[in-house]
Amino acid sequence: MEKRGCLYEGKAKRIYETDKPEVLWVEYKDDATAFNGVKKDVLTGKGRLNNEISSVIFSLLAREGIKSHFIERLSETEQLIRKVTIIPIEVVVRNIAAGSLVKRLGLTRGQRFDQPIVEFYYKDDELGDPLMNEEHIRVMGLATEDEVASLKEKALEVNEHLIELFKKIDVDLVDFKLEFGRDISGKVLLADEISPDTCRLWDSKTGDSFDKDLFRFGQGNLQEGYETILARLGGKS
Ligand code: TMP
Ligand code: ASP
Repeated sequence: MEKRGCLYEGKAKRIYETDKPEVLWVEYKDDATAFNGVKKDVLTGKGRLNNEISSVIFSLLAREGIKSHFIERLSETEQLIRKVTIIPIEVVVRNIAAGSLVKRLGLTRGQRFDQPIVEFYYKDDELGDPLMNEEHIRVMGLATEDEVASLKEKALEVNEHLIELFKKIDVDLVDFKLEFGRDISGKVLLADEISPDTCRLWDSKTGDSFDKDLFRFGQGNLQEGYETILARLGGKS
């Protein structure tokens, strides 16, 4: 596989074309941003940790029958993915109250829900990724009704598998964000990454955070938290 020109550079990754039109080459960067890019830093090793963790998680999900854009990990910081057009909707699943939900509705941080909450956010940096509902999605033509139903169903299925996976390594899956894309044939595939950048992960015994909140709120060393997740997952891949 040959790496060609850079197609897109985001806050955490660079995406390159390859000699195959349906395959892209992803490079994870060490850049960390929070609050829509307001807080920024370069954290050595973050790219490697997210690439490794996301590769392990997508591989484990594939074994459970959940297809994603992930093809293979190439190096510490690189992976190959299927080319998809990202649907500009961030699908968030919450099992325990934290983050923006606590701020918005005044719930108590740490409150466990009887059933998971699914939310949609419009993926638009200029607007600061606002919360949206299914009717906004329909009116804006971002996805069909069937696609929205399938996004929700897939997100809940991923949630079930991730809860189990993290339970085995003594970690509570608090919440996470997924992105989906359409492949060349129009089929909707799980995309982007699943890593401590996109999940809230708490030690089930101590409640310590192992995720990007360490950076967002200056709660501790981000690389140490991510390293703990990778090490604990190590035995499970
Ligand atoms: P929130 O509580 O800030 O809305 O975040 C919910 C989940 O989504 C949390 O696991 C972090 C993740 N997330 C992202 O992956 N990207 C984002 O831009 C934001 C705001 C949250
Ligand atoms: N991903 C967003 C940013 O890069 C926000 C966040 O993760 O808190 O700024």
